[in-house]
Formats: sequence, C-alpha cells, structure tokens
Amino acid sequence: MKKILFAASECVPFVKTGGLADVVGSLPQAFNKSEYDIRVIIPCYHAIRPDWREKMETIYYFQMDNRIYVGVKRLEHDGITYYFIDNEQYFSGIVPYYDMFQDLERFAYFSKAVLSALPLIGFRPDIIHCHDWQTSLIPVYLNTVFQGDPFFRGIRTVFTIHNIRFKGEWDVGHIRWVSGLPNECFEPGLLVSPYQNRSIPRDDWNCTMMRGGIVYSDYVTTVSNTYSWEIQTPGFGEGLDDILKWRHERLWGIINGIDYKVWDPKADKRIPFNYGLNNFTSMRKKNKKALQKEMGLKEDENVLTFAIVSRLTDQKGLDLIDQVMDRLCAMNINLIVLGTGNEYYENMFRYYQGKYPGKVAACIGYSEDLAHRIYAGADALLVPSAFEPCGLTQLISLRYGAVPIVHETGGLKDTVKPFNEFEDTGTGFSFANYSSSDLIDRLKHAEWIFYNRKELWKHMQKRGMSEDWSWNNSMQIYKDLYSRM
Ligand code: ADP
Ligand code: GLC
Repeated sequence: MKKILFAASECVPFVKTGGLADVVGSLPQAFNKSEYDIRVIIPCYHAIRPDWREKMETIYYFQMDNRIYVGVKRLEHDGITYYFIDNEQYFSGIVPYYDMFQDLERFAYFSKAVLSALPLIGFRPDIIHCHDWQTSLIPVYLNTVFQGDPFFRGIRTVFTIHNIRFKGEWDVGHIRWVSGLPNECFEPGLLVSPYQNRSIPRDDWNCTMMRGGIVYSDYVTTVSNTYSWEIQTPGFGEGLDDILKWRHERLWGIINGIDYKVWDPKADKRIPFNYGLNNFTSMRKKNKKALQKEMGLKEDENVLTFAIVSRLTDQKGLDLIDQVMDRLCAMNINLIVLGTGNEYYENMFRYYQGKYPGKVAACIGYSEDLAHRIYAGADALLVPSAFEPCGLTQLISLRYGAVPIVHETGGLKDTVKPFNEFEDTGTGFSFANYSSSDLIDRLKHAEWIFYNRKELWKHMQKRGMSEDWSWNNSMQIYKDLYSRM
C-alpha cells in the first residue's frame, strides 16, 4: 500500500476559491483505495462551514518549537482521511487568504506544522504531494530542519504548480523571520535567484518560497503539458523560468481532470433538466430558458447565450472582454456572467448589465448551484485567459455540451480542439493571439455557425460531450510518477 499525503491550502468540499480545491478534492478519489492510502491536510479555517467543523475530531495538540500551538483535527469523508491544522491566530478569518505579507507567515507556519504533526498522528507517508506556493516550504523544511530525524528519512516529495503567478515572494529578512529556516537556504540558487544582485544588503534580496519547492522537491509537476513549457520561458515563468529550465527533466505536465460524479449532466441534481447524448439539444434549450428566467433575461431558447464562470482577475482575459463588449452586444446574443474577485471587473460587469439590460446579466458572487445551471444552459463558455495553467471550466463545459471559446494557452490549448468547419472536426473555438480583434473574430464565427450551421454546432457539442476528461487518464500518469519515487 502506497501512502501519500496531499498538502494544500484548499480542498472541496471544505473550502474553495478556485480550481486548486477541485483538484485536491477529486484526484485522491480517483485512486484505487486498496493500493493507495491518500490523505489530505489543509488548514482548519473558520471559513469552513460549521457543519463540517462540528464533524471534526481533535486528535492531537502540541506546542511547535515550544512556543506555538498546533491542533490536529481529523475527519473521514467519502473514504478519505482529511487532517486539519488548527490555530486560531492564523486561520480564524472569514476567508482563507489575506494579503501576501500575512499569508507568508500563515503558510510557513502551516508547512512546518504539517511535518511536525506527522510523527504524532501515526501517519508516515512515503510521498508528500505539495500543491502551490502555500505548501512549497514543506520540501525545504524536510531537507533542512527535519533532515536529522529518522522518522522523515526516505520521505519523497512532489511539488505541483497550479499557478506560478502566486509564488510567495518577499525579501530574505522577512521570509527568514517567518520561516525560521537556516541561513544556507537563502543562498543564491536556493530560495533566492542565482542572478540576485549581491551588492545590496542580504536581507533585502528577493526571496521566493515557490523557488524553494521547485529546488528541494524530488519531482515538480504542473497541470498541463503546454504550461510546463510556457513556464520555462521568461514571458510566463514569473522569474522562476531559470530553475524550471534547470530542472526540466524532473518537470512533468499532467493535465487535470474533473470529478465525473459531481459534473454529470445525466444525474446532476442542481440542474432543472437532466440530459445525455440522445436528448441534449432539446433539454439544454429548456435549461437555457430556465436560466434566462433566473437571470432576468428575456426567455428565448433560440438566442445564442454566451457565459463566463470565473474568478474575476487579470489572468482570465477580462480586459479583452471589456474591449469587445460593445461589439459583442451588437450581436444577436445574451451574456451571462458568474464571478467574483477584483472590484474593477465586478463593477465593469455591473456597468455592462446596466448598459445592456435584458442582454447582459451579471451575478457578482460565488454560487456552486448557479455555476451548474450555467454550464447546462449556456450555448458557449468564454475563457479568453491571458494564461491558464489548466482551466477546469472549459472541461466542465465540454462535458455539459456548452462549446468553449478559448485563447490557445496552457491547458486551454491542450484540451480544446479548434473547430474546423470544412472537416467538421474540433470541440470549440480558439484564437492564437491574445488580442480583442482575434477574440471578436472567433465570437462572430461562433455566432454564424450557431445560427446558420446548426448541424455542425450540434456535432461539435456531441464530440465534446463524448470526450473523457475524468481523472482516469491523468491518474495513471500520477501513478507512474509515484512509482518512480
Ligand atoms: P482557477 O482555479 O484559475 O480559478 P479553474 O478553471 O481551474 O480556474 O477552476 C475554477 C473553478 O471554480 C471551476 O470549478 C468553476 O466552476 C469554479 N468557479 C469559478 N468562479 C465561480 C463562481 N463565481 N461561482 C461558482 N463557481 C465558480
Ligand atoms: C489554478 C489555475 C487553473 C487550474 C487550477 C487547478 O487555479 O489558474 O488553470 O485549473 O489551478 O490546477
């Protein structure tokens, strides 16, 4: 039996701000439980719903380094053991993340607490699989502070990059203070870039926790093949491309999957009309009408309905949407937006809803239920991201028969096959250059096909719905990776 511990900052069903939580929650479920004992550890945020928190059992508490409280709680759910690191001072906010300055201290604490707790809770993993910058100090602590302890000898680490834009960066002085790591870690080439200008005082040097995860872990993965190449270039690497290039033989791009039990139009209890390959055209129209009604739009099952379901951040290509909005609204379409995040984009969609009443409907907020109804009722999903490590919304929309319209970057490029009208192939519309003219061009093409080549549109939906974006394939690749270690 292989024992693996997933360490992360979010995980469904407990706490989610984006796709990271979906992956950490669903990937362990994909493995055969008689071969793999995969457990998950996350912080015990107050943001976790009280009914979950009430079910947790405190299994241990201690003072880490003789000064700071660590509580360990446990919960079994759907055959998986979850652990939660409890500390009121760090995790009692109503949201999982604060600002970077505070988060550096909170997640350095979390990373050290995970390792400190392991000998006490009776679980010794063969592999610790760390996700994103928040857990990137685990491999660093393991190879330095915890190195002499026989309990940890032979534990291997994988570090998965879900988004390199967030990398846990500050100056050496602050990160040394919050982490308590020894001086040797702050040499250029370790947590500090090898190109660091050494003439300035050492405490002011730029220091990146994610660099530590990349340097010290046995393997590094990211969530699509294209993104694994992109991040080795200065344009996408966020200043870490040097170390990623250096470690490229240990860098794997493994595409994400989605949970086919949660995302299943045949059985989804959150959508009004369930459907499959035989009846999707008529049932999706009914879902569309119900969705239009819910969103305050004119009910018309024949109008092309675009949707956006997204964190509202720069990553997601919303500047392009802003630039094309007037031209888009001149078309015979509806646009439904579900998203929350950056206030600028929230207000932007409120503005367009006011400017184009009945045509644009924006729900500024977070709603799992509404997201399901949008995937089941919208005709096309817009994902024009500037960069996208993998992206799950286009995978969900393929499964639900909503045609994705994407920028060819990262996982979007690897999962959406460009539509070819003459060969009747492809699963969505895509554009190569990140520009508003290329986006509007694709949107107009989509409009034309939708109204004038209904059969081709239907074939495209059918091809997308027939693909397999469950974890089946990628789980095999993770298995291969784990067995090499
Ligand atoms: P990212 O992790 O960069 O936000 P992904 O496409 O990987 O992007 O994952 C986004 C996930 O979050 C999907 O499951 C999507 O349905 C969900 N999601 C995003 N915004 C919202 C929202 N406002 N309400 C409900 N679900 C949302
Ligand atoms: C990140 C990325 C997204 C990816 C998700 C899960 O949030 O932005 O592209 O799908 O992680 O790996």
